[in-house]
Amino acid sequence: MTTPIYYVNDAPHVGHAYTTLHADISARWNRLKRNEVFFLTGTDEHGLKIAEAAEKLGISPQELTDSTSRRFKDAWNQLGIKYDDFIRTTEPRHIETVNAFTQKIYDAGYIVKDTWEGLYCISCESNYIESELENGMCPIHKRPVEKVKEDNYFFKLSQFEDRLLKFYEDNPKFIEPETKFNEALSFIKSGLKDISVTRSSFDWGITVPWDHSQVFYVWFEALINYVTALGYSSDPDRFNRLWPNTVHMIGKEITRFHCIWWPAMCMAAGINPPSKILVHGWLLVGGEKMSKTSLNKIDPVDLVDEFGLDQFRYLLVKGSPFGPDSEFSYEELKRRNNSDLANNLGNLLSRVLAVVNSKCDSITPKVDTDSILKPAADLAVESAKENWDNFSPANALEAIWNLLRATNAYLETNEPWKGEPGEKVNKVLGDSLEVLRIAAVLISPVMPTSAAEILTRIGLTNYLDDVSLSDDLGWGQYPGGFQIKKDAPLFNRIK
Ligand code: MSP
Repeated sequence: MTTPIYYVNDAPHVGHAYTTLHADISARWNRLKRNEVFFLTGTDEHGLKIAEAAEKLGISPQELTDSTSRRFKDAWNQLGIKYDDFIRTTEPRHIETVNAFTQKIYDAGYIVKDTWEGLYCISCESNYIESELENGMCPIHKRPVEKVKEDNYFFKLSQFEDRLLKFYEDNPKFIEPETKFNEALSFIKSGLKDISVTRSSFDWGITVPWDHSQVFYVWFEALINYVTALGYSSDPDRFNRLWPNTVHMIGKEITRFHCIWWPAMCMAAGINPPSKILVHGWLLVGGEKMSKTSLNKIDPVDLVDEFGLDQFRYLLVKGSPFGPDSEFSYEELKRRNNSDLANNLGNLLSRVLAVVNSKCDSITPKVDTDSILKPAADLAVESAKENWDNFSPANALEAIWNLLRATNAYLETNEPWKGEPGEKVNKVLGDSLEVLRIAAVLISPVMPTSAAEILTRIGLTNYLDDVSLSDDLGWGQYPGGFQIKKDAPLFNRIK
């Protein structure tokens, strides 16, 4: 599981957090399924954009990359991102891999010298043709593009048209959603041009191994990070075991690099392309892409400070489903925090524990095998599993919240807080505790700390450590007999 490696010209914002969090959730879900997971993220540290940003600050590019890369790492730690590896493209392991990988392509005759002339957006680190510009500006950053002319090395992308078409035909699920698959396919069908992959006008990059007067174009080497981290040049056995079983999560503006260049580069180097690319839309602020350049960026760590870690993770994922563009709204985060978290999940837990305390001497009743909530629980488990597997966390959460809502309604109908201690009250509480057990497991990829806390409060300490999704999510397994742990409400309301 990978995220894009982020440019280090500036600090991370909620847009970067969005992709990284989705990748983290998917990695956590797969770990819960006891699949072997290797989750990679990192920073993209070369190129003109970084060199210029450093110059503006009056520091060296290396100083800038060291400090900003650290800020990304810190932000991910504060967002509970459990990556297995954080790659930096200035590391020796990456430089060694880029040398080996590109030399292979060069030796195969797919890299040749030519003259590059074109229009370039430094913020995108990408080429444009006249017709793609909006009022002469970059369509993404709305900034002027630069005219460039250099003698460079070119990757013969045009020679991969047929092989890419065949690959797309054989792998109809290579890119999701389907709309992005179709866009990439039409782009290939419209004819591919060779691409300039080196630069001679600046030196903040990886030196071309066969011509030390040039450095690689940042995108050409950055894509190779995905195989560096798997041991392409340092541990071929590991590499061959893990590649190409890879999911790249990316934002929609970088599809061309990932869906066309990267598979062709893999083919040129004699390895299979990655197995899947998942493309998502943008978080918008007032209709514009949240970006470092537009000055509309929001620091995710500020939101964690305000809402709490698990709350922020839930709110971002639930509020902006993976796929389409969505407007980022602080008011909406607040509203959802109060309704879904404080009033729903949080309230369910507190009221169940309060009644166990007052009617059962603080000892939890066991679940009944027969319950009106069983069909709702089975449905939630099935639907959540399917949606986690299909990278639709917002839908997985919706399925779980349907069960939570049904359980709160069940409590309101039965009002165990009014009943006499005894079998009827015990049944209502046992059923509700069972829902809390199942829901806690299902929400754990998004809200790992809250899930563990809910389970601890109902007596199931360390339950997530060896829960089995295939055996333990069926109705009727909450054993009861635990002394409950009462504590402060799980989620605060925000005024
Ligand atoms: N360095 C390249 C990626 C190289 S991957 C081999 C790059 N870096 S970036 O810093 O610009 O990050 C772009 C990625 O950050 C997007 O593709 C997306 O994953 C995430 N996002 C940045 N802004 C975003 C939004 N406003 N909304 C959603 N995701 C966004 O491109």
